[in-house]
Amino acid sequence: MSELPSPEQILNVLTSILEPQEKKSLVDLNKIRDVVVKPSGVVSFSLVNPSSSYRDALIEQCKSAIKTLPAVKDVWVKVITETPAIAKDSATSVGTGVGIEGVKHILAVSSGKGGVGKTSVAVNLAVTLAEMGAKVGILDADIYGPNVPVMLGMDAAQIQVTKNAEGLDIVEPAFNHGVKMISMAFLIEKDQPVMWRGPMLNGVIRQFLYQANWGTLDYLIVDMPPGTGDAQLTLTQSVPIAGAIIVTTPQTVSLLDSRKGLKMFQSLNVRVLGIVENMSYFIPPDMPDKQYDIFGSGGGAKTAAELDLPLLGCVPLEIGLREGGDRGIPITLSHPESASAKALKAIAQAIALKVSTSEA
Ligand SMILES: Nc1ncnc2c1ncn2[C@@H]1O[C@H](COP(=O)(O)OP(=O)(O)OP(=O)(O)O)[C@@H](O)[C@H]1O
Ligand SMILES: [Mg+2]
Repeated sequence: MSELPSPEQILNVLTSILEPQEKKSLVDLNKIRDVVVKPSGVVSFSLVNPSSSYRDALIEQCKSAIKTLPAVKDVWVKVITETPAIAKDSATSVGTGVGIEGVKHILAVSSGKGGVGKTSVAVNLAVTLAEMGAKVGILDADIYGPNVPVMLGMDAAQIQVTKNAEGLDIVEPAFNHGVKMISMAFLIEKDQPVMWRGPMLNGVIRQFLYQANWGTLDYLIVDMPPGTGDAQLTLTQSVPIAGAIIVTTPQTVSLLDSRKGLKMFQSLNVRVLGIVENMSYFIPPDMPDKQYDIFGSGGGAKTAAELDLPLLGCVPLEIGLREGGDRGIPITLSHPESASAKALKAIAQAIALKVSTSEA
């Protein structure tokens, strides 16, 4: 007897079905939820807010697509109505989509504006959590500037693909500093501009999430490209996110952009754990007791208060942090006593605490 499909395979076949008005995939629009494959061969899922004029046709298309998969006996579709207000006000951290087997918490490190220090925060968070004894993976989902391999000293890593028992391609993560890593850089020639369209990006991110040998992980940290584009949408609609972390700098423009990031996560029903203010102040290497507020001060705290979010911490601008990134040894490992390393470690602890207390 052939094996039942997994929920991911169900979502994969449904990706091809378009919402007639928006002409986008139902999966991309997050209209398919709660996919369950019962041992009896019955597949059930919820369809969110289909317009009554084409509801029945859509249901039929979904059923036919799913029935092309082996061992599927029947398909049950539940139509649910959801108003944006409900999604916005929800205090839960559920996100959407199907979890990755063996992976406990998925964290997204995001920012509205580029260059604010997402990747620096993400890699230091990863190695600190690993040092604390957690099993950690990092997915570099930044198609436009996949810098994680360099910052974690894995820039020589090559993509390794094996086949699993079902003949499915499985990507093997690289490993350094106690952290497993898969990067978009695996797929991109150095110095080549990337002009991928949404669906292709969508496919690769989903493959890196589901068809990777992550093993058991306490945390999978996803380093996002800047902004509120396709990658954010794909991630939040593919897997349940335990929390998003928004990185900002104290300048007004960056703070304004972080509001957009927050709004996006809220509208996608993803819990935002808090704000990290990076480059909060400059510490001159020859005068470590001095602080200069190059980009202004207090902006992160003010924005966090206005948005009703916790300020997870403030990381100073230090030459050692940049050097650590360039050398592939994050500052929390190379200079654990520095002010920025201490701030980053405290942020990692605050995040771990938030994630574990939300389970209670
Ligand atoms: N606190 C800091 N002190 C010194 N240098 C920093 C600090 N934070 C980040 N940098 C440096 O600034 C540059 C940009 O940081 P990073 O790549 O982490 O930002 P990003 O938000 O991920 O950028 P992108 O949007 O391009 O992905 C890097 O060279 C990094 O080493
Ligand atoms: Mg980055």
